Amino acid sequence: MEKFRKAYIRTYGCKQNFADSEKITGLLLTIGYDITKSPEEADLILLNTCAVRENAEQRVFGNVGALKKLKEDKPKLIIILFGCMTQQEHTAEKFKAKFSFIDAIAGTNILSSLPEIIEQARLKTQKGARIILKEAGADYDSFDESVKPLREGLFSANVPIMNGCDNFCTYCVVPLVRGREVSRTAENVISEVKNLIAEGRRDILLLGQNVNSYGKGNSENTDFTGLLRELDALEGEFIIGYMTSHPKDCKKELIDFIAGSRNISRHLHLPVQSGSNRILELMNRGYTREKYIELAEYAKEKIPGISLTTDILVGFPGETYEDFKETLDLVEKIGFDSAYTFIYSKREGTIAAGFADPISDEEKSAWFRELLDVQNKINERSYERFVGKVLRVLCLGEGRSNPELLTGKSRQGIIVDFAGGEELHGKFADVRIKRALPWALIGDLII
Ligand code: 5AD
Ligand code: SF4
Repeated sequence: MEKFRKAYIRTYGCKQNFADSEKITGLLLTIGYDITKSPEEADLILLNTCAVRENAEQRVFGNVGALKKLKEDKPKLIIILFGCMTQQEHTAEKFKAKFSFIDAIAGTNILSSLPEIIEQARLKTQKGARIILKEAGADYDSFDESVKPLREGLFSANVPIMNGCDNFCTYCVVPLVRGREVSRTAENVISEVKNLIAEGRRDILLLGQNVNSYGKGNSENTDFTGLLRELDALEGEFIIGYMTSHPKDCKKELIDFIAGSRNISRHLHLPVQSGSNRILELMNRGYTREKYIELAEYAKEKIPGISLTTDILVGFPGETYEDFKETLDLVEKIGFDSAYTFIYSKREGTIAAGFADPISDEEKSAWFRELLDVQNKINERSYERFVGKVLRVLCLGEGRSNPELLTGKSRQGIIVDFAGGEELHGKFADVRIKRALPWALIGDLII
C-alpha cells in the first residue's frame, strides 16, 4: 500500500505501554501510515497514556492542551487518546469535556479496532470526541497475534507474556485499567522469541504486571518456570529478562532454576513497596518483611552477583515515621542495585483512596529525600563487587555518553562500557571490569 500519511505516537508510563505502542506502530504501518518523530508533521497523533500516578496524568493533560493549536492550524489532524488513563470512565469524560478537539478516546483493549476508529475520525461522522471503552481486560486484544509490533533498536526486544493483574494492591489502579490477568500461550511466546533471536535480537525482556503467575487459567499447563525452561533451551546465546516479579509468587524453585540456567537474566526486579509489616498488610501485598528478606537473601546466595532492584512507595495512607524507618532499614540490609521510589498518589477507585491520610505532602517529601540519600549512598558502592571480575556482556552498540566506547549489558542487566570495534555490535564478549560507577561498569575486552 502506498504510504501517504504520517503518525506521531507518544507513550507515557511503563514498558507494557511501550510494548503496546510498538504494536500500534506495526498496525499503523499496515494501514498506510509512516511514523514521524515530529507532531507538527503528523496527520494522526496518538497519545498512549499512563494512570499509575497523578503526575503522569497531569503531564498528559498538559500535553493534550498543547495540541489544540496544531488542530486549529490543521483541521484534518486526527487526535486519539489511548491507554490506561482513558480506560477510566471518569477521566475519559473529563478529557471529552475539556478538549472538544479530540477525535477519539479509547481504552486499553481496543487496539485492533484502531483502523476502524481512525477511518471514522477521518470521515468526521461526529463532532467532538467519541469515547470507546470495553470492560478492562475483556478480550484483551494486544495479544492479537496477527498484529506484528514494529520494534525500535536492533538487538533488544520487549515481549509481553501477560496482561492485567489479579492482586489488587490497595493503592494501585492497574487492575482497574488493565483488567484481570490473561496470559499469552507459551506456544506463541516461544515462537515470537525464536523469531526475534533469528533476527539477531539477543536481549529479550518478558513483560507482565506479575510474571510469576504466568499461565494461570491457560489450558497449556506451562507456568513461568516452565516457560523460562523452554526459552532457555532455545539454540544460541542470548539473555532472557523478565519483569515484574511479585514477592508473594516468586518461589525458591524459580531462583534455583535461574541459578542453573544458561540464558536467563541474573537480574531480579522485586518490588518491596514497604519495609513495615503493618503497611504491607494495609497494601494487601501478601508477604511480610521477613519473607521478603528471606527470598532476597536466598536469591543472593544461589545466584552470586545477582542484581536486585525494587520499587518503593513512600507516604502510603496511615504510614508513620516509624513505619518508614523500617523501609530504610530494609533498604540498607538488602542493598539494592537500584530502587525506583515514588511518593504515594491517591487513585480514584482504589481501596486506599478511602483510607485516612493525615501526613502532609511536605513531610512525605522529606521522607522521600531521606530514602533517596540512603539509596544513593548504596549506589556509590554496590557495583564495586564486580571490579576485577570477568562478565559476559552483550554489546548493544556505541556508548551514548562516550562514542569512543562500546556499551553493552551484562547478564545482571547492568550497563558495561568498554573499548572495541563495530564488529562486536550485537555480539557477546568477555569484559574484565576495572571501574564501578553508580549506574554502570567500565571494563576491558578480553581477547
Ligand atoms: N502511587 C504511587 N506509586 C504507585 N505505584 C503503583 N501505584 C502507585 C500509586 N498509587 C508504584 C508502585 C509500583 C510501580 C510500578 O508504581 O511502586 O511497583
Ligand atoms: Fe499494581 Fe500490585 Fe498488580 Fe503490581 S501487583 S500491578 S502494584 S496491583
